Amino acid sequence: MTVQSDVLPKLIELEQIVVGRTSTADTVSKLGSSDVFKELVVWFTNIVIDSPDLMNELASSNNIKAIPIIRRLRACYSQPLKFVFSDFAELSKILVPNASEGITGFKNELLDNCAGKIRLSKVLSDGPFNSYFKNYEQELTNNNPHALYPTSPYRESRGSVTTGSDDQAFEAVMSSHTFTSIRIEENILSLNNTILSDIYRPLERCICLVDENVDKHFGRDIENYFRHSSTHLEKLVYRAMEVDKALNTVEKILGNFKSLGVSRNEPVLIIGGGVLADIGGLACALYHRNTPYIMVGSSIVSAIDAGPSPRTCCDGYGYKNLLGSYHTPILTITDRSFFKTLKIGWLRHGVAETIKMGVVKDEKLFCDLEDVGADLFKSKFGIEQENIKTKDIVEKSNKILAGAMRSYVSAEYENLYETHQCRPHAYGHTWSPGFEIKAGLLHGHAVSIGMGFGAFLSRKRDWIDDETFLRIIKLIESFELSLWHDILLEEPLIWESQERIIEKRGGNLAAPVPKHRIGNCGYINDLAREELKSSISEYHSFCQSLERKGIGVEPLCSDVGLEDPSTVHVPLKSAFAAE
Ligand SMILES: NC(=O)c1ccc[n+]([C@@H]2O[C@H](COP(=O)([O-])OP(=O)(O)OC[C@H]3O[C@@H](n4cnc5c(N)ncnc54)[C@H](O)[C@@H]3O)[C@@H](O)[C@H]2O)c1
Ligand SMILES: [Zn+2]
Repeated sequence: MTVQSDVLPKLIELEQIVVGRTSTADTVSKLGSSDVFKELVVWFTNIVIDSPDLMNELASSNNIKAIPIIRRLRACYSQPLKFVFSDFAELSKILVPNASEGITGFKNELLDNCAGKIRLSKVLSDGPFNSYFKNYEQELTNNNPHALYPTSPYRESRGSVTTGSDDQAFEAVMSSHTFTSIRIEENILSLNNTILSDIYRPLERCICLVDENVDKHFGRDIENYFRHSSTHLEKLVYRAMEVDKALNTVEKILGNFKSLGVSRNEPVLIIGGGVLADIGGLACALYHRNTPYIMVGSSIVSAIDAGPSPRTCCDGYGYKNLLGSYHTPILTITDRSFFKTLKIGWLRHGVAETIKMGVVKDEKLFCDLEDVGADLFKSKFGIEQENIKTKDIVEKSNKILAGAMRSYVSAEYENLYETHQCRPHAYGHTWSPGFEIKAGLLHGHAVSIGMGFGAFLSRKRDWIDDETFLRIIKLIESFELSLWHDILLEEPLIWESQERIIEKRGGNLAAPVPKHRIGNCGYINDLAREELKSSISEYHSFCQSLERKGIGVEPLCSDVGLEDPSTVHVPLKSAFAAE
């Protein structure tokens, strides 16, 4: 079964059926009696959704964007025609662009016509293949229920149960598959960009969570975009600062979902920074136990890290990200054009997560970051080019965005449920969750302090040589990020952070640090209290010799116009204790 031999010729024949159409009703009945159409439906409903052959074929023919459409088409049998033909139109534009005009025209007709609401199964059973499809439906019911009545096309679960003859003992293995796509796009809100309208137009509405600050700058563009594509927009605007990253905001979002009756196959759209990504994603994980969502990251952090991340969460009991769920967006879109309204201080701290991936996972990315330096955030990833020395800043910024995404998702998605703790992307995040809020630090500065200290520990163990250690420190310094904050001298706090993270990591410290060379990761598991204390003291002396003594530029939330979470954060614990 290949797309080249089984699908391409049939899509061309399908184009012939619809291109010469007279009326919608007539075309619908022609489809119901077409052998080619029948074979296409059967082919799609039978595909194995994670078949390596299918993936490899589409990737090697540079048709990777066809993969999510084919996955959706597997469930075409019980879908309304407008969804089926939206997918056929998108697919034919990718696979047979010269034979896609008729299918696209027919799709548009279905979107505006009540015929678009007829289910494909009805069309097929009304034609000459009635008895064939009656049997086929029974076969799908028994053997392939995901192709017949999926809850949504983005997830699939399997399981097997073994029991003894007396049914007194059972053993079961369950697994679940989640499908997701990532696209690096330009100007997704421009009226001729169809990435969002292709998804929301057939649904007739879009429920969109927007960060309050993003709404100020892009709210009108969002409204215009959906008006232009005749899609009803339910725009829900939230204040989403670090202080709002709490259960009560998640509850507020859930209340809005309930009153709008969000359905389980209707992806919610989230446009915002890392905070909205985390709390909006968590609300989606909780609502109906699982509601799909599309993430558009409007800050650097959410564009390449929090956005595609499956780790949705909120803070609780004075700890960052304590409560949460694993719930990946079905689609993550990274679009540089949102960065133009970010403050330089936000961009600077956002780059910390990219440096992190360069140090422990991707040497190429590290070298690209060394090459561009601070111009990367000073130009807002190539959007503002005055006073910038780097030539080709747009190309270089795009390369870094793509590299950051490549290394992040390969680390994160291979270990979706964090079922092991060899997690390179946790570099810099071992001690920082315990001091970030209290110190009022921006997340990126807290992480870069953790990265500097982690590299120092690695050097002390002789896991990296002096040259590698200094390259890492120099890169962090050149991006004006922090390597030091005096909160590290609060020994009981740092020790408690370490104890908490050991709990969180299933009983092991497993602190990721660079090992042997740039782009490679190792894990420190034993670090006694005394050694932690003396290492911090040595690291402190080392930082004294650095430019600005290791203090970054605008390291605090309050430096860049954000509320200081250390002063306004009320741990939930005290609220419960009062009861
Ligand atoms: N889930 C994960 O895996 C993961 C990974 C990394 C970070 N995070 C979380 O992400 C958060 C940090 O993310 P962040 O840096 O995006 O912070 P943020 O969401 O607080 O955004 C920073 C500020 O920028 C504003 N903003 C966002 N996009 C804007 C735009 N385009 N124009 C103007 N203003 C805009 C926001 O309103 C906010 O005031 C932290 O809470 C961190 O824990 C989560
Ligand atoms: Zn982080």
